[in-house]
This record gives sequence, C-alpha cells and structure tokens, in this order.
Amino acid sequence: MASAGKVKAAEAALSEVKDGMVLGIGTGSTVAIFIEMLGRRAAKGGLRVMGVPTSYQSAYLAAEAGIPLTTLDEYPVLDLAVDGADEVDGGLNLIKGGGAALTKEKIVDSAAKRFVVIADGSKLVGTLGAKFALPVEVMPVARRTAMARIGQLGGEPRLRDGADRKDGPCVSDNGNFIVDAKFEAIPDPAGLECRLKLIPGVVEVGLFVGMAHTAYLGGEVGVKRLDRKGR
Ligand code: A5P
Repeated sequence: MASAGKVKAAEAALSEVKDGMVLGIGTGSTVAIFIEMLGRRAAKGGLRVMGVPTSYQSAYLAAEAGIPLTTLDEYPVLDLAVDGADEVDGGLNLIKGGGAALTKEKIVDSAAKRFVVIADGSKLVGTLGAKFALPVEVMPVARRTAMARIGQLGGEPRLRDGADRKDGPCVSDNGNFIVDAKFEAIPDPAGLECRLKLIPGVVEVGLFVGMAHTAYLGGEVGVKRLDRKGR
C-alpha cells in the first residue's frame, strides 16, 4: 500500500540514482513504488539504468516499468541497491524476508557498492526481533530438523503458509520453505545469523547485518535519513 512514508522514502532513494547506473532492485511494496517512479523518470529521458531484480515480483514490475534487466553474471558489482525492510535498528541492521525474497535480496544487496534501505518510519525499532518474526529460508527436506534446531536457539519456529489460493506451505522463488522464527528480541544479530546459518538445510537468514549504508525512513511530513557510522 502506498503510504506517504513509503512514497517519501522511495523519492529519497530515487534522488541517488544517476545515469548509467546498474541497480539492485529489492522486493516489496515500498520497492514497488520506487520501481514505478524510476520507470517514469527513465521514460522522460536522460536516465538510462539497468536493474538486477531480487524476485519474480521485482523482475516483472521492472519490466512493466520499462527498466532493462540484467544479471550478476553480467554485472557482479552493482552501483546501488535499493531495498525495503521489515525492521531497521539504529545501527542499520535489518530483518528482511516478509515477502520471502531474502536469499536473492541478500545476494544482490551485498553485491552493491552502496545499499540503501527504504521503509516507512514504523519499521525503526530499538532491538531487532521484538515485533517481527525472523524469516529463515529452509530446504524442504530439512523442515523438521531445522525447525527443531531453531527452537533450540530460542526461536519459536512456524512454517509460513502459502497465500492466495495455495494450500500448504509458502514456497519461495527458489523452491524452498520459509520458517518464521519469533524470538523475544535479537540483541546480537551477527551472532544469531552465524548460528542459524550453521544449521544444515538453512539456505539463508533474514538478518542483514552491517550491510546497509543508509536508510530512508519516511513519515507523514518528511524523511529521516540514517547513515551507518564510519561510512
Ligand atoms: C521481501 O522479502 C522483504 O524483504 C521486503 O523487502 C520487506 O518485507 C519490506 O517490504 P515492504 O516494503 O512491503 O514493507
């Protein structure tokens, strides 16, 4: 949904896009607004960009908006990645994966020289995990074993259901399941990310630690910019 905050955050990210850039294009409703704006600006002329999508959703939206697509095979280093988030803490660590696109998002966002997060201001939290369950992408064969191990690490794992007339579990763009693991709080995101990634069958974890350079958090009247310290 196009809340004023999402629109303002998307506008702020658009101001960073320069002619000739190869962009990482995230997933979600805020990025959808960004893609539409980017397409409109490119159509006016004077801005030729290419995008590497992070999901079927962003690939299809970008194609509809007239943004040429490319791959990390062609461009392993991107100029700028723009992506949404489910939670952002003051140190610019993120929870992502509310749309099940976390694995490609992490690959693409980490390939960018600069990674900018766009979100509604309500996504800013004191400590990650207090509100949002942590998405973990798991190979189907490891569903029960990985969920048990996530439980031993203090998370309350729940297999995400499919939506919109899909019975059974949610299947990611990569053919895997998503386990939403509710932790009371995640005070050590880097440590938890490592521990979860050691579980056999875990493909990716929706903790994006030390990756984002800037977050634009939109509100009713303006946008708050947070920059990672030391960058
Ligand atoms: C996709 O899997 C997610 O990481 C999204 O980027 C995240 O859920 C933010 O989505 P919204 O912009 O729709 O809130």
